[in-house]
Amino acid sequence: MSRRTVLTGITTTGTPHLGNYVGAIKPAIAASRTADVDSYYFLADFHALIKCHDPEVVQQSTLEIAATWLALGLDIETAVFYRQSDVPEITELTWLLTCHSAKGLMNRAHAYKAAVQQNIEAGEDPDFALTMGLFSYPVLMAADILMFNANQVPVGRDQVQHLEMARDIAQRFNHHFGELFVLPEAVTDDNVAVLPGHDGRKMSKSYNNTIPMWLPEKQLRKSIMKIVTNSLEPGEPKETEGSALYAIYAAFASDQQRAEMKAAFTDGIAWGVAKQETFELINRELADARERYLELVQKPGQIENALQAGAVKARAYATPFLGRIRDAIGIRSLSRGR
Ligand code: TRP
Repeated sequence: MSRRTVLTGITTTGTPHLGNYVGAIKPAIAASRTADVDSYYFLADFHALIKCHDPEVVQQSTLEIAATWLALGLDIETAVFYRQSDVPEITELTWLLTCHSAKGLMNRAHAYKAAVQQNIEAGEDPDFALTMGLFSYPVLMAADILMFNANQVPVGRDQVQHLEMARDIAQRFNHHFGELFVLPEAVTDDNVAVLPGHDGRKMSKSYNNTIPMWLPEKQLRKSIMKIVTNSLEPGEPKETEGSALYAIYAAFASDQQRAEMKAAFTDGIAWGVAKQETFELINRELADARERYLELVQKPGQIENALQAGAVKARAYATPFLGRIRDAIGIRSLSRGR
């Protein structure tokens, strides 16, 4: 395959958990090590403002998520790693795209529709407590992606609609002003099934069932011991299908480890033993990075410097490209001939 640009962002609301790691951060770091990939990874702090109005949480979460990428070994010499709010071109592009985004398209966004539906069910005005930020969210996300002409955007399945909207917006813009934007594609990984949380549902902040990535060892063990199982006794054969514990183990295991655990389930491994092995596997994968993480969060200045350097690299692409877009739509110097 020829050279391609891979881009993804994580909204900075909350502490990173195993679901973020398996679903987004780990594959993104792997992609950044591929020779023919230009990678752009960023902290979506302007997206955070849509659902989080607590300044301390936004700042703390930005620190934690940035430290997580760095502790896990993202190479910021090769990848462009930045904070959305440090690249003002993205915000400017958001307005230019807003003027070409159909309102009807935004009306169909799942997140917005769900919020309206909740209001209606509660007997409220349909727009009760809804902000323009929530409504316009897909346009900001389109600007994130189109600003760097990303070809591939690794995301969770819940974000696929936003990618379709970004394509739609790009197509309309290209149709009016010439081929400016690459049409991006969502990349969802079928091999990494959605990681379940403690209760077996998708691991998500909104379900309160997450296993935070950087718990101290003892608490990580405790958290893994809380994963739901059934009442089968040691020695009784167990199904891997539908087992949250097996799914979490499998997400961290090699092919061989997976096959061995499968066999152990059939042989009736005790739940406590399977949990202990799961803890050991995850802990081995994260232990060294945890040390680096704990050091890094003590050095916010160092992380800030890395992000500032990343913003310079991001803007080296964004500034001239936004110049071309401005020119194409008529935001031009008056001293230039027509
Ligand atoms: N909306 C994404 C989420 O909540 C985060 C995000 C913002 C993003 N901008 C993006 C992801 C651009 C990929 C590309 O998960």
